Parts: sequence; structure tokens; C-alpha cells
Amino acid sequence: MSRFAYVNGRFVRHAVASVHIEDRGYQFADGVYEVIALAGGHFVDLDLHLVRLDRSLGELRIGRPMSDRALTMVLANLAKRNGIRDGSVYLQITRGVAPRDFPFPPDAVPQLVATARRARPVDPKALTDGVKAITIPDLRWARCDIKSVALLPAAMGKQAAREAGAYEAWQYDRDGFVTEGTSSNAWIVTRDGELVTRPPTHAILNGITRLVVIEIAKQAGLRFVERAFTVEEAHAAREAFVTSTTSFVMPITQIDDATIGNGKPGSFALQLREKYQGHMAEIAGRRT
Ligand code: PDD
Repeated sequence: MSRFAYVNGRFVRHAVASVHIEDRGYQFADGVYEVIALAGGHFVDLDLHLVRLDRSLGELRIGRPMSDRALTMVLANLAKRNGIRDGSVYLQITRGVAPRDFPFPPDAVPQLVATARRARPVDPKALTDGVKAITIPDLRWARCDIKSVALLPAAMGKQAAREAGAYEAWQYDRDGFVTEGTSSNAWIVTRDGELVTRPPTHAILNGITRLVVIEIAKQAGLRFVERAFTVEEAHAAREAFVTSTTSFVMPITQIDDATIGNGKPGSFALQLREKYQGHMAEIAGRRT
């Protein structure tokens, strides 16, 4: 964990960093967050994260604690103080502190906290063999496009995955269509070589890695389509993988009891992972 955290205008020792008990994030999950990767001391696709943050705040009518420029400086300073060049920063903005009451407090001051953590080494076996996913009903609310801190269904889903020896849980809607992972976007490659991921409606978070991987796939000339796919289709897919800020592109070779493709990471997933890492390496090598 980080040695320093940022809490409302101050860098404080992580061990003693705290917020007020009547912070609405604590009582109502009334807040939003972002996780932004750091590569070689540079933020990865920071501009896209800031646009999504702005959108999440706007949808919930939470005020902005500071400008993008000031926020960027805070996050860069936090990473530097913690000596982290490769890893990620977490930032959370809540509506503010007020006596517990459901409507939005009229004069609440948004609260900003941030932490930084070093990149965890990726298990090489996960990349050579792929990882497992399970499928679970999607128990979340109807605005999953907002990156809200209300993550209890995600925590429950990830716990179910862990107990099943799986890396991720893919959630499916009432019609049996996969929405996304608990903390990642879900992708398949069909038997006839079509790369598929769900369109960015209110049913999923529009992942930044997802957006970048779509661009990479298009540039690589892969056949790409945005549409919903069922759990059955996923079981029968040639390939499957997830994308996220922390997993990049992670091949999935088992979904529930079904072996995906030949049980080894597929060529689309490996190619997209390599190209995405190239994108990160390019950012890491920037001078400013
Ligand atoms: N999770 N879908 C959900 C529900 C997520 O929580 C995330 C990110 C993604 C992928 O988004 P991105 O590519 O922007 O990281 C999709 C972050 C990493 C987390 O909660 O830790």
C-alpha cells in the first residue's frame, strides 16, 4: 500500500488517512472513482479518464473539487511522493459531509481522496494458460455507466469468483446476455472470427481500456462488432478475454465448465495484449 495518501488538500501518511463518518460516500455510496494506470511515471490515457470522471460527476450532480489541471498535479505529486512509476492511482470524489439525510445537501463540499499503488507482477501462468471466469446474475443497478463507488455486487461477484478458483465473474442480465466482468469489460471472438463486446449503454461501464483496445483492433484490421452476446455464445466462443486498467488484456480459457477454444490464449487476445502493452510502452517512453 502507499505510504502517502491525498485527503482534501493534504498529503497525509496513509496509515492515518481518514474521512469524516458522515461523508456521504460512507453512508450512501454517494461518490465516484477512477483508477488510472502509471507507466514509466506517466499516466495512461489520463485525458479519457478525466472525461469519464467528469461525466460520472455530472450524471450525479456532484461538484468538481478542482480543475483537471490541479487534479493532475495532485495525482502526479502523489505518485512521486510514493516513489511509484509503474502502478496506478485511485481517486474518489464524494458529494460531501452532511448529517445523514437522503436528499442532496445543498451546500455540501465535494471530498477528494487519492491513493497510489505499485503494479503487481502478473502471474506468468495466467498469460501462458489464460485464466478462468465464472458467470453470475448481474445484481447491479440500472446506471452501470456511472463509475460509482457502490461496489457491493462487484465485491460479492469477485468473492464468488475467488471461491470458484476463477479470476473474474462475468455478469449476465435477465435475458441471459453478458454485461461485463465485476471490474472489467468482457469480450469474445466467435467461431467465425468476429471480435465482439457489448455496446456502451447504461448496462456497462465504458472502460477506457475497452476504448483503446477497440481502436487497436480496428487499426489491426480485425473484424469487430459491438453487440450483446449470451452466456451460451461465450461458452462456445473461440476466444474470450477481459480488459481493464489493471488487467490490460487478460485471456480467458475457461468459462464455467466450458473450455474456450483449444484451452490456450487465442491469437486475438495475445495480439491485442501485445499491442496494448506497446501503447503503454510508448506512453512510458514520453519525455514529458
Ligand atoms: N475497474 N467494468 C467495470 C464494472 C469496472 O469496474 C472496470 C474498471 C472496467 C474497466 O474499465 P477501465 O478499462 O477503464 O479500467 C469495466 C477498475 C479497474 C477497478 O474498479 O479497480
